[in-house]
Amino acid sequence: MKISGLTLPLCLAIAGLFPGHANCAPGARLAAAGSPPAAAASSPPALYLGTAWYPEQWPESRWNADLDLMEAAHIRFVRIGEFAWSRLEPSEGDYHLDWMYRAIRAAESHHIAVVIGTPSAAPPAWLTSKYPETLRVKQDGRLAEHGNRQQFNWADPLYRRLVFQMVLQEAKRFGHDPDVIGWQIDNEYATLSYGPIAKAQFQNWLHARYQTLDNLNTRWTTAYWSQTYTSWTQIPIETNYGNPGLLLSWKRFVSDTWRSYQANQLRALRPNIDPRQFITTNMMGFFDGYDAYTVARDLDMASWDDYVGTGQLNPVVNGAEHDLTRGFLRKNFWVMETQPGFVNWSPDNNSLDKGEVRAMAWHDVGHGADAVSYWQWRSALNGQEEYHGTLIGADGTPVPLYSEVAQTGREFAKAGPALAGTTVHSQVAILHSYESYWAINWQRHNKAFNPIAAMVSYYGAIRALAHSVDIVSPDVDLSQYKLVIAPALNLITDREAANLISYVRNGGHLVLTQRSGMKNVDNGLQTERQPGPLVSLLGGRVEQYYALDTTIPVSGVWGNENSHLWAELLSTSNPQTRVLMRYGKTPLGWLDNQPAAITRKVGQGSITYIGAELEGETLDKAASWMMTEAGVHPEFGSLPAGVDLYIRSDARHEVWILINFGQSTQTVNLPSDFKNVLAGGSQHSVTLKPLAVAVLQRPVPQAAR
Ligand code: GAL
Repeated sequence: MKISGLTLPLCLAIAGLFPGHANCAPGARLAAAGSPPAAAASSPPALYLGTAWYPEQWPESRWNADLDLMEAAHIRFVRIGEFAWSRLEPSEGDYHLDWMYRAIRAAESHHIAVVIGTPSAAPPAWLTSKYPETLRVKQDGRLAEHGNRQQFNWADPLYRRLVFQMVLQEAKRFGHDPDVIGWQIDNEYATLSYGPIAKAQFQNWLHARYQTLDNLNTRWTTAYWSQTYTSWTQIPIETNYGNPGLLLSWKRFVSDTWRSYQANQLRALRPNIDPRQFITTNMMGFFDGYDAYTVARDLDMASWDDYVGTGQLNPVVNGAEHDLTRGFLRKNFWVMETQPGFVNWSPDNNSLDKGEVRAMAWHDVGHGADAVSYWQWRSALNGQEEYHGTLIGADGTPVPLYSEVAQTGREFAKAGPALAGTTVHSQVAILHSYESYWAINWQRHNKAFNPIAAMVSYYGAIRALAHSVDIVSPDVDLSQYKLVIAPALNLITDREAANLISYVRNGGHLVLTQRSGMKNVDNGLQTERQPGPLVSLLGGRVEQYYALDTTIPVSGVWGNENSHLWAELLSTSNPQTRVLMRYGKTPLGWLDNQPAAITRKVGQGSITYIGAELEGETLDKAASWMMTEAGVHPEFGSLPAGVDLYIRSDARHEVWILINFGQSTQTVNLPSDFKNVLAGGSQHSVTLKPLAVAVLQRPVPQAAR
């Protein structure tokens, strides 16, 4: 039977004709096809297509029907188990892992590998009623209840012990299973507890960090509003309008506590699993509930859950989230969850357009994803997320999107060998600092100033020219980059300052933008004014910042524009420091004819500070100026409107992925002959309809070797 170009096994064809009679006998398809089961992980694909599958929600007699359909769509892995604790341990110490073993074997017989999600995000009802102290205390002081998920207290030692025992059972049972390729710890770390357990740990954490109350009181300037502490136990948890040092400390504590929460599970997993099984956790793009660099440090691979929610894919914003995730461990990552068309939790759960889910999958790969996995395969017949997009419907047969996903799966299989071992190589980095963004968000000063938006605006302008951008933390070795842009790097620690200074002194080109260098390691004011420890290297500084309620003209080497939101009055103190842009005249008066952007050459390198908000053409010109100054000359210039280029390479060859996110058909003339990986043949130009994707390959050009 054909459903949108796909041949389905007979039992499923019957299921499609007679919804409600969807059960295929286990193994029926395999017996018919005569192919022996083989360890799904024995020939891992370079690109994995996957889905979240919840075998515990379905009768076992249904499993093979699901897996048949998955296999037909070229799905090569399932993630299972991340909310299945009540099935894995129905009562304390009574572990039931056989069903999971059988689910893995069933997947294996369909050449589908398995990632196990540890179930700690959804403790069973017996556990939280027997040990109510494992429930989290909400900010209003009330205890979370059963009935949802993430009701646990991430800081509670007892909860951790119970989790450890559970995960240990799984690790021992499946740690050497040939079909288990990896582990996802928990699911989307997010919820905190504000009760006495977390508070005491926070106070101990502060004690360890600051050593003495005198030190803490000085560094937080607690003389202000009589906040001086004379005992560690007096220090509260603050998340909103607290002392800036206290706010930042709480966030650091939260990040460290997620790290130790995760380490508890790593201790159960690492000694009991094969090193070939990766360990990850699914993060959430720009979610800033914790510092993802801190948490990712102990993992083998980064992964994230990539949801559009309302509207269509914004390739720039979404691309920045991919590049952010790739920067956590500075290597390829997985998209562990993504939406099959639409979600259920957004204000308007519109569907992505026909073709957009496939384009989005290739967009993921272009940014360095080696796997794309749909959440979820099929909706639980009852449960909070009944309306969410899926690949098969409540009757157990494919929804319209299934064939598009199957096409993507076919293409992944075809393009896998070309992409194997490749990654994104960038000459440009954007710095991302959770601490800076928190610091600004606690004290925005202009409520419309969004530090992520500021970062993404530079990212978009530079990416359009450079085609590859890394997003990394300010404390990593930057020597591989010709150009480093630090948008709104508000908080600069001494260590980060030393890193940036040595980067410039060794020939790097650093561009700081608005609000950079205002805060020190304790979220207190830098006494040099902005950009703090970089003032002397810059040979200039910020004399005053202004939140704008009107527009301010700015003009200079990057053209003219009416700037808004924020303006910083700059000055130069070193004769080598040049003014690039100046503000025009306005009723505000303070900024009239004053420097808005300045730069200084330092040996072979340079440091630039931009105090005005740039957008549109001015921002584009600034980006192209930065590229020229830094000597970044991509082989390929700008692309037709709406078309994006992503390049992955290894020592041998380059793979170019071109996607047309625009509304009209575009032709791209290529700089040399390319092999068309998906369509076959060789070509010197490619024509792309809206949402079309081209995957092209060529040997690495001599000049780039
Ligand atoms: C994710 C979560 C999944 C599911 C999904 C729905 O954030 O990890 O379990 O709830 O959202 O979009």
